[in-house]
Amino acid sequence: MFKFDFCIDNDNVEAPPLEQISSDVVQLEPFAEFSLSQLLESLPPLISFSPLPIRLSSDRKNITLACRDLFDARFQLISEGHGDESETPGPTSALGFLDSPSDLVPGVYEGGLKTWECSLDLVDYLEGLEDLNPAYFSGKRILEVGCGTGIPSVYLLHRIFCGDSNTATHVHLQDYNASVLELITFPNIILAWYMSPSSAEYRASISDPTESPPADPTLSGELPLTPSLKSAFTASVAKHGISLAFSSGPWESLKTRIESGGAVHDIVLTSETIYRTEALPALIELLRRACADSKSLCLVAAKVLYFGVGGGFSEFLGTLESKTMVDRGCSGTAEAVWERKVGVGRKIMRISWV
Ligand SMILES: C[S@@+](CC[C@H](N)C(=O)[O-])C[C@H]1O[C@@H](n2cnc3c(N)ncnc32)[C@H](O)[C@@H]1O
Repeated sequence: MFKFDFCIDNDNVEAPPLEQISSDVVQLEPFAEFSLSQLLESLPPLISFSPLPIRLSSDRKNITLACRDLFDARFQLISEGHGDESETPGPTSALGFLDSPSDLVPGVYEGGLKTWECSLDLVDYLEGLEDLNPAYFSGKRILEVGCGTGIPSVYLLHRIFCGDSNTATHVHLQDYNASVLELITFPNIILAWYMSPSSAEYRASISDPTESPPADPTLSGELPLTPSLKSAFTASVAKHGISLAFSSGPWESLKTRIESGGAVHDIVLTSETIYRTEALPALIELLRRACADSKSLCLVAAKVLYFGVGGGFSEFLGTLESKTMVDRGCSGTAEAVWERKVGVGRKIMRISWV
């Protein structure tokens, strides 16, 4: 067992040290895909949210996104009966993860309920790209691998909701745990829409102020997820030409799905997913298969080193250039495009496929 200390609490309070709980069970979650309507149906009647401030490295104005509160996801599970005596909360139940959201249970829960700091680095980098080339992301096919709370994708969607683009943009969010997609990732996307000008018409149509909190992500609040909000969200997604896809399960299973005719992507993002050395070949193979071609933008954001587990950029680069990856047609090289050397070093590497 070991401890890290590198994820961010949504309330921006330093999170407790991460612990990996050893487990003999490997990859319990099956592959599953979720439609927008399935995820809309899984929403509770109300969610609470808090600001997630994201500091940018340049002079650009900092960004704040609204994120669903973990305590609220916990409340949802309890009110849906997941906390009764028949279901004992433990380290392998969704309620157990919510009580220790930074702990990793290999093959059972991989830390996706919390926002990890390198996902904010990705936002910083993506914001710079968008700044240089407005609407850079609209019209693209985007995949976020191991998305967890999905902050980079939520940011990209927020940018699209803030603009007037209606060019077809496809965003696929993948997490190991289906419960993470339902409880946090998808609610965060709804919040990104609600906090944007795209929800203005819906907000103006609501007379009861408790149903329509201020569209200000710097404030905490509660948002009722009424049928009319869901309809307005769905209409807005369609109006902007956005299609959303969600999948859960191990990386190998998404790779197989892509190989058997699934979509490839122009932009593939992943943050804080290289901590486990033995999982690197599957991750790299997925990243390679998910990229449409050598021009695809493939970004890996991570700590330089994950103390105690052995993962980090040196292991990642070794695997990326290894004979195993060459034999699988998945080898590549990497160039650092963003770096922070203070404390535990963090980088964003852009991968070029050989
Ligand atoms: C530490 S979390 C990081 C979450 C998010 N990207 C962030 O930076 O906030 C690691 C993520 O990798 C994913 N993951 C880890 N191992 C995986 C595996 N073998 N197959 C599929 N997903 C995996 C999990 O879904 C989890 O959300």
